[in-house]
Amino acid sequence: MAGERVLIVDDDPFTLELLTESLSEQGFRTVAVQDGERALEVLRQGNFRVALIDLSLPGMGGMDLVREVNLTAPETTMVIMTGYPTQESAIQALRQGAYDYIVKPFKIHEVTATLEKALAQQTLKAEVGALRARVRELELELKRHQEGTAGGIAGQLAGGVAHEVNNPLQIILSRVQLLMMRHRDVPRLQDDLRLIESNVKRISRIIRSLLDFARYNSGEMEWSDIDVAHLARQTCTLIQHQLDKSGISLTLEAPADLPKVYGNAGEIEQVFLNLLLNAQHATTSGGRIEIRIRTVEKSVVVQVCDTGTGIPKEVLPKIFEPFFTTRSAEGGTGLGLSIIYGIIQKHRGKIEVESQVGVGTTFTIHFPISEREDEG
Ligand SMILES: Nc1ncnc2c1ncn2[C@@H]1O[C@H](COP(=O)(O)OP(=O)(O)OP(=O)(O)O)[C@@H](O)[C@H]1O
Ligand SMILES: [Mg+2]
Repeated sequence: MAGERVLIVDDDPFTLELLTESLSEQGFRTVAVQDGERALEVLRQGNFRVALIDLSLPGMGGMDLVREVNLTAPETTMVIMTGYPTQESAIQALRQGAYDYIVKPFKIHEVTATLEKALAQQTLKAEVGALRARVRELELELKRHQEGTAGGIAGQLAGGVAHEVNNPLQIILSRVQLLMMRHRDVPRLQDDLRLIESNVKRISRIIRSLLDFARYNSGEMEWSDIDVAHLARQTCTLIQHQLDKSGISLTLEAPADLPKVYGNAGEIEQVFLNLLLNAQHATTSGGRIEIRIRTVEKSVVVQVCDTGTGIPKEVLPKIFEPFFTTRSAEGGTGLGLSIIYGIIQKHRGKIEVESQVGVGTTFTIHFPISEREDEG
C-alpha cells in the first residue's frame, strides 16, 4: 500500500504533524489541511484514495465534509477521527459514507491498520464494480444474440411481408377450389389443381409460422398454457427447407393429447430453434434429427436427437457455459445453449444431454405440466 496518497484533515496542528510524519515514514504520500473547505479544494485537484477526517472541524464540520466528499469524490474512502467516541456520531458518519472510525487518542499502528483495511476494501470495491460492468455487458450481448436468432430478420420479414403475401394466397386457394368444383369431370385438370392447392396450402402454413414467430418474439405473447408439440412443429416448418437442402431428415413424434405447459411461447420456440440448429450443424447429409415428445409423470418431456458428430466427454461439461463454442470459425458465439439453459430454468424445467462421439447427441428437456391442467 506504500505510495498511496492520503489526505489528512484536522484542525489540531499537533495531530497533523504526528500523522504526516508517521504515515510518511510508512511510505504513504500525505497532504495535510486544517479545514473542510481546503480539503474539498485539494480533493478537487488530485485523486486521493483515502482521507482521514477529524469530526470536529471549525467552519464546515467533519460530518458535512464527509457528506460532501461522498457526493463529489465518491472514489475517496474516508476514515473518521473522533475525540468523543459517542456511538451516535460514529454511526452517523458511517451512514454519510465514511468507511470506518478511529478514536482519539490513537496509536499510530491503529491508524495504519485502518488505512490498509480501507485501501484493501476500496480495491475490492473497484473489482466488484468492474465485474458488475462485465456482467452488464454480457447481459446485453445475450439480449443481442436472442434478438439476432429469434426476433431479427425473420421477425421483421414476418411482420411486414408475410401478411401481405397471405391475403393473395387465400384468394388463389379459393379460386383453385372453385375450379376444382366446376371441372369435376376433367380428371387431368383435377390432378393439376390438386397439386396447386397442396402447394398453396404449404406456402400458407409457412407464412402462418412466420407470422406467429414474429408475434411471439415481439413480446406480444406473454405467459400462457402452451401446446409444446404445436410449437415444435412450427419451428420445424421454419427450418425444414434448410434441412432438406442439407439432406437431413427431420421427424416429430407427439401424442395427440399432450398436456399444456405454462410458459412463454417465444422463448420455448427459441429453445427448439437453437437445439435444431445445433443438431443441424453437427449432422451431415444422410443424417437424422428426431423430436420425440411425451408425458412422463408431471412433466412434458421433449427429446431432440441427432445422428451427428456427438460431443467428446471432456467437452460435455462446458457446453452450457456462455461463449463456449467449437464453431467459432463458422461464426458460432457459444451463447445458444446458455440461453436455452436460462429459459428452461425460468420455466422450472431441466435439461440433460447424452452424447456419443460418432453416434449422435440427445438433448432431453423436462417441462412441468401446467398446474391448471393438473387440477382438471
Ligand atoms: N447437437 C450437438 N451435437 C454436437 N455438438 C453440439 C451439439 N449441440 C451443441 N454442441 C456443442 O456445444 C457447443 C455450444 O453450443 P451453443 O449452441 O451454446 O453454441 P454454438 O452453437 O457453438 O454457437 P451459436 O449457438 O451461437 O451459434 C457447440 O459449439 C458444440 O461444440
Ligand atoms: Mg448453437
